[in-house]
Amino acid sequence: MTVQTQDLQGLDLRAEIDRLRKERNAVILAHYYQKPEIQDLADFVGDSLDLSRKAQATDADVIAFCGVRFMAETAKILSPEKIVVLPDMDAGCSLEDSCPPEQFAAFRAAHPDHIALTYINCSTEVKALSDVIVTSSSAEKILSQIPPEQKIIFGPDKNLGGYLARKTGREMLLWPGVCIVHEAFSETELLKLQIEHPGAPVAAHPECPPYILDHADYVGSTSGILAFADTMPGDTLIVATEPHIIHQMQKAAPLKTFIGAPGADGNCNCNICPYMALNTLEKLYVALRDLTPRVEIEEGLRLQAKKSLDAMLAMASGTVGLGDLGPLKVA
Ligand code: 13P
Ligand code: SF4
Repeated sequence: MTVQTQDLQGLDLRAEIDRLRKERNAVILAHYYQKPEIQDLADFVGDSLDLSRKAQATDADVIAFCGVRFMAETAKILSPEKIVVLPDMDAGCSLEDSCPPEQFAAFRAAHPDHIALTYINCSTEVKALSDVIVTSSSAEKILSQIPPEQKIIFGPDKNLGGYLARKTGREMLLWPGVCIVHEAFSETELLKLQIEHPGAPVAAHPECPPYILDHADYVGSTSGILAFADTMPGDTLIVATEPHIIHQMQKAAPLKTFIGAPGADGNCNCNICPYMALNTLEKLYVALRDLTPRVEIEEGLRLQAKKSLDAMLAMASGTVGLGDLGPLKVA
């Protein structure tokens, strides 16, 4: 989206965003990968699961979602009566792009005895084709509730799927998608950094490839990594996920040192998510002012996608098992 920034010159954007937030009865939700200035003015900052729960529970009239499109769509699926705005509609995700719904439908049809356990980083159409959605913080718990004899397709992230398979011993058919951000970490540069900081633990997101995860002392979601940063032994942490999360670490533990794991060029700037970075204070202001760009989802599609998200929310809080979910979408 092109924002005419010259029209915004002289505006105190933070004050204006605050004014509009009250006027519109809006809640600003932000992911940990957002720029620090957005994280700092959000009403709530969280991982994908926390943000879904907040979007479902809020009594605001407007959700201004500072994250990527699949996250804002999830908010709309769970809270259809609310206006959901995303500051930049081009904020996509390489995992979503790697899994076109027609190809996913064909893959499902070719494996009729498998259920589809699908990472939330996918389109609404792929959610509608899935049985249960997972986030990185809920995947293991949900997987443990699926009977061992049940065959599973896991998509679209082959790294998260591979990590879960290795950790739980559960075989799954993996869709070959990757996150371009987590794929960009360099094992050689990580090893060099470990030599420079002997004893510093490495915390990694499970979207990282196995050759990075093999060096991690902790593997988990963004909220899990933040909890590890709080409680870890020592005062230096190497962080193998999108570097904007370090903002929250520094706020919580200003005396500790957090170092972003490097890409092949030896610095961590190539690991900034280009989609998350599209959101700016200017675009957030315009989104709240004009209530656009809005997320809209056709009702039939929304209801289909909601089933798999409801299954996630129920299984993540341990209130139902797979057997209680009613008919699955197995062909
Ligand atoms: P989390 O659910 O761990 O916040 O991950 C979201 C994401 O997009 C990671 O790339
Ligand atoms: Fe998608 Fe990767 Fe960006 Fe997360 S970091 S939103 S998985 S491209």
